[in-house]
Amino acid sequence: MTLITIILAAGKGTRMCSQSPKVLHSIGGKSLLRHVYDLSTKLENNTIHVVIGHGAQQVKSSLSTLSIHWVEQTQQLGTGHAVQQVGGAIGEDATVLILYGDVPLLQESTLHRLLSNVNEKTLSLLTVNLKNSTGYGRIVRNENNEVLRIVEEKDANDIEKTIKEANTGILAVQGRALKKWLTQLNNNNAQGEYYLTDIIALAVADGFHIATCFPESEDEVLGVNDKLQLAHLERVYQLQQARQLMQRGVTLRDPARFDVRGTILEIGQDVEIDINVILEGNTKIGNNVKIGANTSIKNAIIGDNVEILSNCVIDNAVIGQNSRIGPFARLRPESVLSNDTHIGNFVEIKKSHIGQGSKVNHLSYIGDALVGCQVNIGAGTITCNYDGVNKSQTIIEDGAFIGSNTQLVAPVTVGENATIGAGSTITKDTPARQLTLSRAKQVSVINWQRPIKKEKL
Ligand code: UD1
Ligand code: CA
Repeated sequence: MTLITIILAAGKGTRMCSQSPKVLHSIGGKSLLRHVYDLSTKLENNTIHVVIGHGAQQVKSSLSTLSIHWVEQTQQLGTGHAVQQVGGAIGEDATVLILYGDVPLLQESTLHRLLSNVNEKTLSLLTVNLKNSTGYGRIVRNENNEVLRIVEEKDANDIEKTIKEANTGILAVQGRALKKWLTQLNNNNAQGEYYLTDIIALAVADGFHIATCFPESEDEVLGVNDKLQLAHLERVYQLQQARQLMQRGVTLRDPARFDVRGTILEIGQDVEIDINVILEGNTKIGNNVKIGANTSIKNAIIGDNVEILSNCVIDNAVIGQNSRIGPFARLRPESVLSNDTHIGNFVEIKKSHIGQGSKVNHLSYIGDALVGCQVNIGAGTITCNYDGVNKSQTIIEDGAFIGSNTQLVAPVTVGENATIGAGSTITKDTPARQLTLSRAKQVSVINWQRPIKKEKL
């Protein structure tokens, strides 16, 4: 079966009150349109057409790497008009699937059920029974329960308005018939639009059967029209992600306070995730990893037995096995920590390699540095990597001990097993196995007295 998927995405989305086109708003870090596109790519033998209008250029460039046939609808004259724009590209023998760019959580299984009903004489329609169907097109059936037509809210009479079965807008039908009905649409209705929904009555007139099926849950067919609906579907999506992880054995302290904005490529056994953790981009997490509360992790690889304490921000970093990070640590891009490292509170690491067993436990900035194994970096150590123009590297060789409150002015190398006295400003390479320090000698002033408060005049 050849499939043509038409994703309607030309609408303005006025109620989003936003400069950006509606379908570029995101759920789980992924645009609404991308959700629909990704779902479509799961269907075999499929060509994907996306109808764009408002913000067309923006929509196109944001998804420019994808395999999409873009179709511009310069004036939004209705859903039927939108599908007409694809016109010539619709193959007679193809099955055409209509999806909406602003309905992001549709499931693949639902689409398979929908598509399995299509044949030479059957149009397949996804409908949903709603407690409150206000705003939706209603499914009008005859006394034999056969679908006759769809009536839009604004065209419906009082009796039709009581119908609970609503049109989701999602349907599938053979190309040949669809092309014929598209030429028969008119805009003689309350909104002066070319309604795609009018093809139902045309199909019935041509002796077609209208097969209907339901989604597994209502959330699957909910569209996003405003920020409230966007937030609702974000929660639905996040709960789905959380459930999947828990089914794979991950302990989530609270599935309602956990967010995935990207893809978890791997996650091991006995992983524990505390509240308010955000996983962004592509992450790999090993076995036995503990992630503390309020931590964001983006594009990171985390080894087995790593413990990340609360309030850390980790971005494009690699953390070796058995390491302990935080609380309140920040790993910036290109930070690579070997196994058994400790990065403590109020420490920032940027574009640095930290060797096995090394510790940076308190209040330090390590940037553009190559730190060897078993190095101890004391509290308040700063790599002065930037002279205002260029960045330079600091090399700290294996076994070095950097005393507290040391400034290492790069480019500079601290030799193997060297010790740097606390409070030093190191501007030249320091020899291995020696103590180097650069602080003024301590003096004590005998007979010195504290000032005494003067009498007021
Ligand atoms: C449509 C259906 C209605 C259904 C509802 C489900 C019609 C006439 N009505 O109504 O039966 O219950 O969806 O949500 O089809 N779009 C375009 N070009 C246009 C008009 C719309 O691309 O000229 C796109 C929109 O961007 C959106 C989708 O089509 O993604 C639906 O359009 P919308 O205006 O929301 O349709 P409704 O009036 O809600
Ligand atoms: Ca709508």
